[in-house]
Amino acid sequence: MLGRLNHVAIVVPDLKAAMETYRQSLGATVTEPEILPDHGVTVVFVELPNTKIELLEPYGEGSPVAAFLEKSPSGGMHHVCYEVDDILAARDRLKGEGARVLGDGEPKIGAHGKPVLFLHPKDFCGTLVELEQA
Ligand code: CO
Repeated sequence: MLGRLNHVAIVVPDLKAAMETYRQSLGATVTEPEILPDHGVTVVFVELPNTKIELLEPYGEGSPVAAFLEKSPSGGMHHVCYEVDDILAARDRLKGEGARVLGDGEPKIGAHGKPVLFLHPKDFCGTLVELEQA
């Protein structure tokens, strides 16, 4: 069911500082910030040869990543994103196996303009998993 690793996401308290770290210290290519109001985040992508790193900063009231920063003020790894061919088929299969899909269970459009879903960390080795239809 799983395809490529699309990205690993890291929540940061200061997106500009994080972009600077990846550009200057690590010499990486970093995209310009994009606000995703529906997801409550501002996002950039660090482009690597084989995958991407998503840097997330909270945006607006009630951002889903604000609580994460309260627990880990210096930031940290937030989720991994795997590609799937058919997100609805993947969701139905996982639900049939008892896995919990976050939110209302309907895919939302993610940072790449493609449908995404999030799976409960307690069902997946303590890691928040995002599925993106490739
Ligand atoms: Co993501």
